[in-house]
Amino acid sequence: MLPRIASVQNPLRVAVFISGSGSGLNAMLEYQKTPRAYLISLILSDNEDALGLNYGSKYGVKATAIPLPHTQDKIHQRLSHEAMIDEELVNSNIELIVLNGYMRIITPLFINKWKGRIINIHPSLLPKFPGIYAHRDAINAKTNESGCTVHLVDDGIDTGHILAQKKVSVSPNETIKTLQEKIKKIEHQLYPEIINLLSTGQYHSKS
Ligand code: GRF
Repeated sequence: MLPRIASVQNPLRVAVFISGSGSGLNAMLEYQKTPRAYLISLILSDNEDALGLNYGSKYGVKATAIPLPHTQDKIHQRLSHEAMIDEELVNSNIELIVLNGYMRIITPLFINKWKGRIINIHPSLLPKFPGIYAHRDAINAKTNESGCTVHLVDDGIDTGHILAQKKVSVSPNETIKTLQEKIKKIEHQLYPEIINLLSTGQYHSKS
């Protein structure tokens, strides 16, 4: 089930999940200074020290850290962590989850609850180079193009239905760092645009 079709007057309430610097989050918050059919209403991190949490006070958005609870049983730890996150989402009336540099693998239980209402951006042209080493893998493969992919999240690793992609060229002397920077630039344009299209119902007849 995709999110409700929203409008500028009645925007979709979005939570952005981060774990680190939040450079993508910053781009989204800048983008929504002009009227959009979605509103970032919550910034959520699994990492209390995530620098991106500081954008909350800068842009007047609730920002909260929910770290993994301390417990011996790993399965119980993941499930209770996600239960706390889910409670926060429900309390904040969130309608769409946007993963942006969130470094945890989410359980199928959580994904099934939010299916169609949880999206991710990945720094490669999926299905090429899934996983956390996408830039390194693209360079090692000596590919001459890469890019980014916005996709619905399913319970595989970067396997969900693709909503949009954007390409960049990869030069022979590209490094992981230069490729990261190049891809981030296009991610910062593409992700907010696609979230807006999803919010206005542009994908509802297609998926
Ligand atoms: C992006 O490159 C995205 O593709 C990946 O995480 C990065 C965003 O992290 N999933 P940040 O905004 O720089 O913390």
